[in-house]
Amino acid sequence: MKKFKKILISAGPTREKIDPVRFISNRSSGKMGYALAEKAVDFAENVVLVSGPVNLEVPSGVQCINIESAAEMAAAMFHESHDADLIIMCAAVADYRPKFVHDTKMKKSDGDLTIVLERTTDILKTLGENKKAGQILAGFAAETNDILENAQSKLERKNLDFIIANDVSSSSQGGFAKDVNAVTIIDRSGHREVFDLCSKKELAGKILKYIAVY
Ligand code: C5P
Repeated sequence: MKKFKKILISAGPTREKIDPVRFISNRSSGKMGYALAEKAVDFAENVVLVSGPVNLEVPSGVQCINIESAAEMAAAMFHESHDADLIIMCAAVADYRPKFVHDTKMKKSDGDLTIVLERTTDILKTLGENKKAGQILAGFAAETNDILENAQSKLERKNLDFIIANDVSSSSQGGFAKDVNAVTIIDRSGHREVFDLCSKKELAGKILKYIAVY
């Protein structure tokens, strides 16, 4: 069932440079995004994955664009989004980056160090503001508390068609860096569909099927 012309997926963390040898990042493994890309080949003629630094093999049939920073991910996503009929933002994009990047390795001194951070672009929100006719936009909401309420408000604020909410609290069974995940998909009408704990690959297939037949 090749329902889409082009599915665009983002995956993994971003790295925000402090100096030539240091950066700020997060624990995203990219597994969920890569699983989505692998399964997306069954649903689209063309699958493009924009990926932060991860230790995963690019699935066959997928075109991968490697990036490091949130700014590079934004540029790649905006460039690739024009002809995509389904976009899934699965990446753990940094919300802040160092305001000043040092050209040379910073030297330590005895006192404390303060690094001033500035906001990065919210890629998904920008894609939502510029959504093309017929384009479907989905995002992930990794939450530790008030999961469904927070996810629903993100769907509205970012003008999404679907938000995939997952519990990343330490008490949860799935989520960051794991091979399994459990999610709830919320659509624009507020309908909630629960997908119980299963492998990220299995879940990826279920998510894409749900969106494709919607
Ligand atoms: O607002 P929050 O970061 O929780 O929203 C998560 C969703 O927004 C994810 O789909 C993530 O990929 C996306 N996002 C983004 N650009 C950012 C931060 C998050 O596209 N700077």
